[in-house]
Amino acid sequence: MGKSETELLTESIERLKHERGAVLLVHNYQIPEVQDIADFLGDSLELSRMAAETDAEVIVFCGVHFMAETAKLLSPERTVLIPDASAGCPMADMVDPVSLREFKAKHPGVPVVAYVNTSAATKAEADICCTSANAIDIVNGLDSDEVIFVPDCHLGSHVQERSDKRVILWEGWCPTHVKILPEHIQQAREAHPEAVVIVHGECPAPVRALADEVLSTGGMVRFAKQTSAKEIIVGTESGMVYRLQKENPDKVFHSIHIAVCPNMKKITLRKVAESLEKMQFEVDIDHDIAQRARGSVERMLQASR
Ligand code: 13P
Ligand code: SF4
Repeated sequence: MGKSETELLTESIERLKHERGAVLLVHNYQIPEVQDIADFLGDSLELSRMAAETDAEVIVFCGVHFMAETAKLLSPERTVLIPDASAGCPMADMVDPVSLREFKAKHPGVPVVAYVNTSAATKAEADICCTSANAIDIVNGLDSDEVIFVPDCHLGSHVQERSDKRVILWEGWCPTHVKILPEHIQQAREAHPEAVVIVHGECPAPVRALADEVLSTGGMVRFAKQTSAKEIIVGTESGMVYRLQKENPDKVFHSIHIAVCPNMKKITLRKVAESLEKMQFEVDIDHDIAQRARGSVERMLQASR
């Protein structure tokens, strides 16, 4: 029997990776075939650490654009490729540097925490970045009674619930996570009464209130390994369940099927192969913006060591 398309593409990716001196960094929401070829699979924070540490010539980033940009900020001398240049994050587009500057003018002296789901130009206007894995610690570690948190109002409200500071929120949200409604969690609990419920920090407050744990995607990976629970309801982008199930075959994971991020699904094996073949699509950041944005990301990495 001949080889399948997946096998053939995987072989050419392996060959091209070797020729180009490339490393494949893959986010936890990517499609299974792409997860399976990862050199490193992780959440936003883990992937930015990997980007900062790698000595590969080329980074192929399988995720969305702000993640590839963050990799470029931390590894400016490397070539960073994203296999589909249109794989964006609609939440990251809900804030821009001009609107943020106007907002800052209304709250003089208040530090800005930019969720890593922002463009480099927005990061350049911030004091420090955070991801869902370290947002609470980053906010609580700032020397100020007030902070501006952009753009995710839901993650921001989760931080507010765990901080004595006043968290000034921006009106941004993740279109995928807001699809998860309290009734989805209730129905899943009724169908699987023994299960524990974990949800992402981007879920709205009424959904978080029904969960046992609020976690980043990397936090979900660690929780799934450690918990004694045998059944887990996973309130985040539905691609997450593939990795959890693969790494924990003795447990059962239930996803909320409605939560799909179309942008995360744009990366395919064929596009990864083409990306390496044609060295496309290269991530490039304006020098001045990069200088300032890098500071915000590096301050985050230093603060969350
Ligand atoms: P993580 O940092 O938890 O991987 O989340 C990234 C993201 O885009 C969630 O929607
Ligand atoms: Fe952006 Fe939401 Fe997709 Fe994450 S799941 S990349 S926050 S749109």
